[in-house]
Amino acid sequence: MRIVVLVSGSGTNLQAVIDDLHHGDAPVEIVAVGADRPCTGLERAEAAGITTFLVRPADHPDRAQWNRALERAVASHHPERVVFAGFMRIVDAEFVAAFPGLVVNTHPSLLPSFPGAHAVRDALAYGVKLTGATVHEVVADVDAGPILAQVAVAVEDQDTEDTLHERIKTAERQLLVDCLADLAR
Ligand code: GRF
Repeated sequence: MRIVVLVSGSGTNLQAVIDDLHHGDAPVEIVAVGADRPCTGLERAEAAGITTFLVRPADHPDRAQWNRALERAVASHHPERVVFAGFMRIVDAEFVAAFPGLVVNTHPSLLPSFPGAHAVRDALAYGVKLTGATVHEVVADVDAGPILAQVAVAVEDQDTEDTLHERIKTAERQLLVDCLADLAR
């Protein structure tokens, strides 16, 4: 399964996919990694010898044109799946329609609880005792779309946003790897 992965940050989810799935006889091949900003995720891809691309909003006159540029960059690699792994931008409906049913996202909460950019902070503030991570299909609405896989993570009394997010990310990386392997099969 040819995948393009989009990242914005530290890229530890990407690294898990590189380490566990992007080799020899594995069922998944990362054909390119793209980002909206220079980031550690891109550096991880380069270190693994994977083709990278950068499509920055600031280099385009408006959001629609940035979306079209991103769409072209992704499409040029002919992916069978597009994976948002810590990609912190919202794409438009036209982008989603260009890869129908093929875009997946990983999110650090048990959706539909706590969508949005501060999922871990919001879960902690609400006081839930159980949160987790979700891999779901991307649709035009943010953090919506059919759920493909979920994992639960217990909140501990002394948790801060950082400690909880780190524990979620440990579970999230394995969830993403398992989910992509399942999709490939
Ligand atoms: C993940 O928890 C992802 O769900 C969220 O940001 C984090 C990205 O981590 N949107 P990384 O860049 O893969 O390390």
